[in-house]
Amino acid sequence: MKEILQQIKDVVVAGFKEAGYDEKYGMVTLSNRPDLCQFQCNGAMAAAKEYKKAPIAIANEVTEKLTGNPMFSKCEACPPGFININLCDDFIADFVNQMANDGERFGVDKVVAPKKIMIDYGGPNVAKPLHVGHLRSAIIGESIKRTARFMGDEVIGDVHLGDWGLQMGLIITELKLRKPELVYFDENYDGAYPTEPPFTISELEEIYPCASGKSKEDETYKEAAMTATYELQHGRRGYQALLSHILNVSVSDLKKNYEKLDVTFDLWKGESDAQEYIPDMVQKMKDDGFAYISEGALVVDVKEETDTKEVPPCMILKSDGASLYNTTDLATLVWRMKDYNPDSVIYVVDKRQELYFTQVFRCAKKTGIVPADKNLYFVGFGTMNGKDGKPFKTRQGGVMRLEYLLKEVEDKMLEKIKENGTMDDEMASVTAQVVGLSAVKYGDLSNQASKDYIFDIDRFTSAEGNTGPYILYTIVRCKSILSKAGARSFDGDILPAHSESERALQLELTKLMASLTAAYEDMAPHKICAYIYDLANAFNRFYHDTKILTEEDENVKASYLKLLNVTRGVLEKSIDLLGFKAPERM
Ligand code: ARG
Repeated sequence: MKEILQQIKDVVVAGFKEAGYDEKYGMVTLSNRPDLCQFQCNGAMAAAKEYKKAPIAIANEVTEKLTGNPMFSKCEACPPGFININLCDDFIADFVNQMANDGERFGVDKVVAPKKIMIDYGGPNVAKPLHVGHLRSAIIGESIKRTARFMGDEVIGDVHLGDWGLQMGLIITELKLRKPELVYFDENYDGAYPTEPPFTISELEEIYPCASGKSKEDETYKEAAMTATYELQHGRRGYQALLSHILNVSVSDLKKNYEKLDVTFDLWKGESDAQEYIPDMVQKMKDDGFAYISEGALVVDVKEETDTKEVPPCMILKSDGASLYNTTDLATLVWRMKDYNPDSVIYVVDKRQELYFTQVFRCAKKTGIVPADKNLYFVGFGTMNGKDGKPFKTRQGGVMRLEYLLKEVEDKMLEKIKENGTMDDEMASVTAQVVGLSAVKYGDLSNQASKDYIFDIDRFTSAEGNTGPYILYTIVRCKSILSKAGARSFDGDILPAHSESERALQLELTKLMASLTAAYEDMAPHKICAYIYDLANAFNRFYHDTKILTEEDENVKASYLKLLNVTRGVLEKSIDLLGFKAPERM
């Protein structure tokens, strides 16, 4: 369906042309004075300069051409030269009917030229527990992925595990200390290694912080870990076997955690998968004259003339020849291009890594790893803070683990549900999970991603205000009215609005397309949140003003129910794109 603003614009543009003015002045926006009109055109003000005429004179000439158009109930020139527009109730209702009759798409067309997109998000580090810092990447990335898919793009989500580097050497060193008899440490062993891992996930999670602590205090321990890392990276069989155990145990635990978050990845690739591409990549950078030695390290210059801040060279290899986080990210782009050839790659990562990604992106383009016509995007997110304004911590002051955080929110929800006392225990706990997830995800996504935000459990779990539970509450309200009415099919039409609040609700529904398009193009899930908050408010106002179930006129009642159902559908589709669901009851 053609977007509603576009439909209005087409008519207004024609009006300008007919009155003898350039069509570029026919721009239309939502009104910033909804008390006066629904839409407005300020083009006459701009045209005044070119045509050396009073803006109001131009506005009058244009509105003269537009009056009588069946789309508008009002189209008037207002001093000093605005054109205020209201749509006809029939036109709005007709638009909403088309949305309602369009299945799961609600009138939103797929993009004309779909792209292949790869999204790098999640980014958990193997053997270290998921913490709230990884939460944002998973939540935002999942929503960007779902939105792009809905708009018709082919999207591949890659978790990009942090599975390469010193943490592996640390774990191996600690394990060797604890269980030196394990066959993995016997350099003369050339048989097959056991298929059962020599540790559980809880052991693994305890080993890493222990080893990391020791290495900070004990130089020899640290050196042993570095040696183990080096040997692992240079093919020591026993260590590679340990690495795959660490990976397996860790990944199956991670999958459980992501499942709780309703986050899924198409690829479970990691930093280690990029290593085989490094030697050729580095050689080519040297051969092509991009990489040179500076202070012992191999670097590529990436500064540009227009830079206002210094962008240091991208370091490819350290002076001892070891690869870095950069090297791995560049080599990852090598296989991404070779195996998938996406049109763009989107990275959803902490905004503190922005300069780093600027270097990586420029280096990848400059050296030809990524062709010039491809796009690399960095979606940087801010920090999740506690109520004290400092990065979110546990009560004991440690890093909050994701599963505890979710549990805390769920418990809070459960408390509230039990206070209402209308559900049995099992239903209450399932509902608490569903609603709790909405609280966490909406609390995050309703902020512009790049901003820091305060994780406020009391506010996020409240059923009032701009929260996930409020949106779910609205959906559940629609569902419960529909089920009380026994409404199953919606054959009739939504009639032109009977009241101001109904008109406002219908008008709000028409904005779905523009909101989703903006959220998609700007990779900005908060735009979906802002839209559904307005929509939920418009619905609740309508609901409070309107007797729906007791409406005597059957046609009007059927129209209300269909309107309710499309509101429910649009809200449910939108929260699906945000990455959560609504329960049946609350
Ligand atoms: N593992 C990294 C971290 O915990 C995030 C990875 C982000 N993605 C990337 N391609 N570098 O900070």
